[in-house]
Amino acid sequence: MSEQTGAVAIEARAASRFYTMGEATVRAVEDVSFHINRGEFAALLGPSGSGKSTLLNLLAGLDRLTAGSIVVAGRDLSTMDSEALARYRRLTVGMIFQSFNLVPTMTLADNIELPLRFAETARAGRRDRVMELLTNVGLSHRAGHKPTELSGGEQQRAAIARALANNPSVLLADEPTGNLDSRNGQEVMTLLRDLNQKMGVTVLMVTHDPSLAERYARKSLHMADGRLVSTVEAAQ
Ligand SMILES: Nc1ncnc2c1ncn2[C@@H]1O[C@H](COP(=O)(O)OP(=O)(O)O)[C@@H](O)[C@H]1O
Ligand SMILES: [Mg+2]
Repeated sequence: MSEQTGAVAIEARAASRFYTMGEATVRAVEDVSFHINRGEFAALLGPSGSGKSTLLNLLAGLDRLTAGSIVVAGRDLSTMDSEALARYRRLTVGMIFQSFNLVPTMTLADNIELPLRFAETARAGRRDRVMELLTNVGLSHRAGHKPTELSGGEQQRAAIARALANNPSVLLADEPTGNLDSRNGQEVMTLLRDLNQKMGVTVLMVTHDPSLAERYARKSLHMADGRLVSTVEAAQ
């Protein structure tokens, strides 16, 4: 992986994100502290509206803390300027979403090449890297297809390949199987587990399905009303 920064991949210390809505304050994430070790597969659980996506967006550098700090791969996000944060989003973390978020007008190969272009990877090596990434997720035969020509499971696998393009040390997944039937969902979960085990990428997955967390995650963080209410570690 790109960073070697000790045993802890993600650390949140009293992390809070409040939104001001007119007179009201929405405490989306409040005073959350936890850590996730390097190479771990962790789940973030909680009912709708409990703050899971807000927390994941903070970890992804897509949103800013109101208070507290978050350190990922040795980098303290709360002290980064917007340029450093953009670089962090490009290189240190990969993110996947419930709705895949592939560009519909582009082929899979072009979708996966995008983050390489943004990171200004030399053009000469890009196509080989794209094919390697597609092969890793079992989609090398689909390189020239558009997202709509693929099943939901295939689209999510392509989104995973795109998220891993710049070799991030952490993969953040927001309800990655939320739009998939059980067979496609299982395929995506198996892929995430394989990538975690074979490549050592740290995975933090949001889900509201406790059975998924039980099957795949070693550590489960449970949120309610913006707060972390319990942390459960499975026996190894
Ligand atoms: N940009 C925003 N502005 C105002 N309130 C928000 C914003 N984003 C999320 N919230 C509120 O924060 C709370 C947590 O939302 P969210 O993190 O999306 O929960 P979850 O992902 O667990 O369903 C909710 O009450 C939601 O309405
Ligand atoms: Mg959410």
